[in-house]
Amino acid sequence: MHNDAGHGPDPRPKRGCDTWARRRSAHIRTLTPVRITSALVDPALLDLPWSTPLEEWPADHLVALPQGISRHVVRFVKLQGTVYAVKETREKIAEREYDLLRALERISAPAVEAVAIVADRVALDGEVLEPVLVTRHLQFSLPYRALFSHTLRPETMNRLLDALAALLVRMHLLGFFWGDCSLSNTLFRRDAGAFAAYLVDAETGQLHLRLSPGQRGEDLEIARTNIFGEALDLQAAGLLHEGIDPEHVSDEVVRRYETLWHELTFEQAVEADTRRQMDKRIRRLNELGFDVEEVSMSVVEEGGHRTVMLRPKVVDAGHHTRRLLRLTGLDAEENQARALLNDLDAYRAESDMPDEAQAAHRWLTEVFEPVIRAVPPHLRGKLEPPELFVQIIEHRWALSEQAGRDLGLAPAVQSFLANVLIHRPDEQAVLGYEVDDDMLMSSDDDEDEAPEDESLVD
Ligand SMILES: Nc1ncnc2c1ncn2[C@@H]1O[C@H](COP(=O)(O)OP(=O)(O)OP(=O)(O)O)[C@@H](O)[C@H]1O
Ligand SMILES: [Mg+2]
Repeated sequence: MHNDAGHGPDPRPKRGCDTWARRRSAHIRTLTPVRITSALVDPALLDLPWSTPLEEWPADHLVALPQGISRHVVRFVKLQGTVYAVKETREKIAEREYDLLRALERISAPAVEAVAIVADRVALDGEVLEPVLVTRHLQFSLPYRALFSHTLRPETMNRLLDALAALLVRMHLLGFFWGDCSLSNTLFRRDAGAFAAYLVDAETGQLHLRLSPGQRGEDLEIARTNIFGEALDLQAAGLLHEGIDPEHVSDEVVRRYETLWHELTFEQAVEADTRRQMDKRIRRLNELGFDVEEVSMSVVEEGGHRTVMLRPKVVDAGHHTRRLLRLTGLDAEENQARALLNDLDAYRAESDMPDEAQAAHRWLTEVFEPVIRAVPPHLRGKLEPPELFVQIIEHRWALSEQAGRDLGLAPAVQSFLANVLIHRPDEQAVLGYEVDDDMLMSSDDDEDEAPEDESLVD
């Protein structure tokens, strides 16, 4: 799982048992007695007004962040610099979701991280209140409705569907049956022109050793129905570009899923040059953001003809992410990592440094970090550093194309800060201002309150 910037490595121990966290968890009683179940209790959690229904929480505890459509009340709070999402729900549901999210975290699935369950809440007048599930807010993530400002254009929709289909494929490779895949149960982060998708709602999920084709098909049908409904909703609200047909949209997600699944898992018949064919397939899978754990091979002899059947066992993304992390310590999404590595490799070639690790260190300290430091503090919350750097590289390229020669990095940085970044909405988790109720985006709010810059995505 992608660590939120600024949190550092997760100090929690990893264990292979679902119930472990709960058996070992702290059950703490506070002054207004509540029961907190968490593998690692953040004492600041105790200070929240648990005896007040979530809907009535005072604004001084809350941060204004865009949020997706949901049945339950969800609020965001900031404690000691970390933002949490708090969801009021029934106890059994909270426990299931907590256990599942913890299990998903152990297998590095792209999902939000569970932090705690707070139960036994009682209001001051004695009324029993529902427990809450606390998750860590996924930094720089946006619900899909916040990704476009007026109408959802075909280009943006295509990228959302690609990200969603890839998320479902990833979850299925891990043996996770989602049961409620939809645009609103997904969070999106920018990933160098594309989106990386994360699961936010695991309430209906089940984790198996592996999924049968029937289970995958069922999950895909649920996704199709949900997405069709969501596209119809957008259309009814006039938010869908007139060129987009809701039925086509939901069929498209299925088609993209099936194409990707096939590409990742099909058995390939190779008659000659096995080594090169295998390399080609692995490269292609890496490009799609997946790694190959092992390749199973069988030989078929027929009429003196020898064919090798190859089937890769694909594991989740991370080829570029891991290489970048190993070389520079930077934690980026897959496409961002690929763009950063391209820049690093070009730098290494230009400066004629055969040693990869040494080149990476020089690139980090002499190229990447100075660019990030050039951003004035008040603009730093607009894009996270890897995305910022990638967009600057693209800006440099565009300026150089216009000029017909390479303009170099420094002028590109200045131009990007002055002409592009300044107009961007703030995407960092913490917006840095006091919140009043009007600024919170609830499920009923409409599109007008989403960040207002179509150029960001379109
Ligand atoms: N950890 C988190 N990080 C960022 N956003 C979050 C997080 N948890 C919840 N949200 C926001 O809250 C919204 C609602 O959460 P969620 O889907 O879990 O609620 P729900 O009521 O169970 O939904 P449903 O109606 O599908 O059952 C999400 O779409 C997302 O925008
Ligand atoms: Mg939901």
